[in-house]
Amino acid sequence: HVDAEMLPRPPVVTVMGHVDHGKTSLLDHIRKTRVVSGEAGGITQHIGAYHVDTPRGVVTFLDTPGHEAFTAMRARGAKATDIVILVVAADDGVMPQTVEAIAHAKAAGVPIVVAVNKIDKDSANPERIRQELTQHEVVCDEWGGDVQFVDVSAKHGINIDKLLEAVLLEAEVLELKAPVAAPAKGLIVEAKLDKGRGAVATLLVQSGTLRKGDMLLAGTTFGKIRAMLDENGKPIDEAGPSIPVEILGLSDVPNAGEDALVLADEKKAREVALFRQGKFRDVRLAKQQA
Ligand code: GTP
Ligand code: NA
Ligand code: MG
Repeated sequence: HVDAEMLPRPPVVTVMGHVDHGKTSLLDHIRKTRVVSGEAGGITQHIGAYHVDTPRGVVTFLDTPGHEAFTAMRARGAKATDIVILVVAADDGVMPQTVEAIAHAKAAGVPIVVAVNKIDKDSANPERIRQELTQHEVVCDEWGGDVQFVDVSAKHGINIDKLLEAVLLEAEVLELKAPVAAPAKGLIVEAKLDKGRGAVATLLVQSGTLRKGDMLLAGTTFGKIRAMLDENGKPIDEAGPSIPVEILGLSDVPNAGEDALVLADEKKAREVALFRQGKFRDVRLAKQQA
C-alpha cells in the first residue's frame, strides 16, 4: 500500500505554569472568550483544547491546570504537545508548579517559550523572572540562552501578538507534518460519562482525518463515532491533524492519555478492545500487540 503524503500541520501548543499565573486568561485573550470567569473558584480543573485561526495560520492550544493536585494532567499536556508556553507571573516569580512544568517539558523534549505575565502590575519584575529561570536552565536568548521570553499582560492584551510570533517561529523550525489522507490516529485528552450523551471524549487528532461514522479504537474501548463537535459545541463531519474534537459513540469511557485509532471494521475494534481489557485471549492478537 502507498503511504499518504506528509503535509504541514498546525502546531499544538500547551500552556503551563503555576496556579493563577494567568494561563487561561492568556487563552481567553487569544480566543476572545471568557473561560476564566466561568471557572469554579477561578481554578482550572481540566485540560481545555482549542484551535484558533491566527493571521499566520491555525494554532491548537491545550490549557492545563496550575493547581498542584493536577500533575498527571500537566504531564499529559506536555506529552501531547509540540511547544510549551510557560506562563510565569512577573509579580510572583518561579514557583513549585513552574519548576514542575519545566520538568514535564524537558521530559517530553519540547521547546519552551516563556510568557512573563502580569507586567501591568506595579510589583512586576520581569528581570527577576529571567534570573530565577536561569537557575532552572531556562535561559533567555538575550543572555546567550536558547529560550524566547516575551513580557505580556493577558489582562490588558499587551504583547500577545509578539508571543504568538515567538511560538510560530518555534513551530517553523520544527517543520511539523502529518499525513492527511489516511485513517486517523490521535490521543484521548479527556473523557467523561455524560448523563444524556454517554461516553464523551476529547480527542486530539495527530495524523490522518477523523470522520463521523468512523470505527474508533480508543484504549480499552471502541465505538462508531455518532457525532463529532468542535470546542464550541458545533457539529462537524471531519477533523484533520492537530485538531481537537469532542466525540460521541464510544461504548465506554476511555482513559485520558490513551491512544486512539480508526480501524476498518467493528469486529477488529471490539477484539482489540476486549484483548486490552484482558477479556479475550487470542494468540494471533497477542502477537500483534507485542
Ligand atoms: P489556574 O488554571 O487555576 O492555574 O490559573 P491560571 O493560570 O489559568 O490563571 P487565571 O487565568 O485563572 O488568572 C488568575 C488571576 O490572575 C485572575 O484573577 C486573572 O484576572 C489575573 N490575571 C491574569 N493575567 C493577568 C495580567 O496580565 N495582569 C493582571 N493584573 N492580572 C492578571
Ligand atoms: Na486560576
Ligand atoms: Mg486556568
